[in-house]
Amino acid sequence: MSESVIEKVDNDGVVRLTITRPKALNALNSDVLSALEAHLVELEAHPDLRAVLITGAGEKSFVAGADITEMREKTPEEARAFASQALRTIKRLEELPVPVVALVNGFCLGGGCELALACDWAVASDNAVFGQPEVLLGVIPGFGGTQRLPRRVGPAMAIDLVTTGRKINAEEALRIGLVNRVMPQAELDAYADELTKQLSGNGPQAVRNAKQAVHDGMDQDLTSALALETSLFALCFAGEEQSEGMSAFVEKRKPNF
Ligand code: HXC
Repeated sequence: MSESVIEKVDNDGVVRLTITRPKALNALNSDVLSALEAHLVELEAHPDLRAVLITGAGEKSFVAGADITEMREKTPEEARAFASQALRTIKRLEELPVPVVALVNGFCLGGGCELALACDWAVASDNAVFGQPEVLLGVIPGFGGTQRLPRRVGPAMAIDLVTTGRKINAEEALRIGLVNRVMPQAELDAYADELTKQLSGNGPQAVRNAKQAVHDGMDQDLTSALALETSLFALCFAGEEQSEGMSAFVEKRKPNF
């Protein structure tokens, strides 16, 4: 396993992970997945994590899918093990306690789209291309796409994408709610800086509680989910952030979180 397939930069708790396999358009093979999981295990123990950005090296591709060359000869059992490795890794990314932003700078196909679906934010360059083209290869999405895609864009559009395998551009991805923002490619990095500055300038525990309320609530019935929100709201009053945030408002100054 080589960890150099993922480049990590930590800037005051804003961590940028770059998948670096540009010759294969950053396709996810088992080495990349192992390296990503190792980084995520470290991030789970990061004492002052504020936000995570994940992107692909180069200007052409975020991630062009799972590695087809590696998958080609797999038996059903090997395919199951590969999918399980990816699902576990992608769930770790999804469950990081801070906002995770996919910076989609080009092809975002198959397993790449499934990786982006596990992120809280997806910010796409205007040349990005999305799709779940697995049926064109005689398979179906195996990194969570059949489940996270309908939860993100609704079942009708998910069925459209997973049964036709058609590719969509950034504009359509924005319209169906697959991504949050579309930016000219040259402005993507500057926007990422602005977004992470905004996210990391807010009360860190409040941001974590907000993410937890949305994520955990989505898996519950409304009554239980609202009770969860009340608990997490009340919990905000147990730390120092709420007092600082509200005092700053009353004193007409910026809060210092
Ligand atoms: C392995 C890949 C790859 C992939 C691209 N490459 N995608 N290698 N796995 N998913 C490699 C190509 O083989 C080529 O290597 C190099 O990257 C550049 O790609 P080109 O095809 O020459 O580039 P271009 O003509 O610009 O076409 C770009 C593309 C096309 C449209 C993205 O590469 C493509 O369709 N890729 C496959 C996309 C896909 O089907 N993804 C879903 C995979 S299945 P060489 O050595 O020839 O230069 C999946 C399932 C997940 O993700 C669940 C599994 C459990």
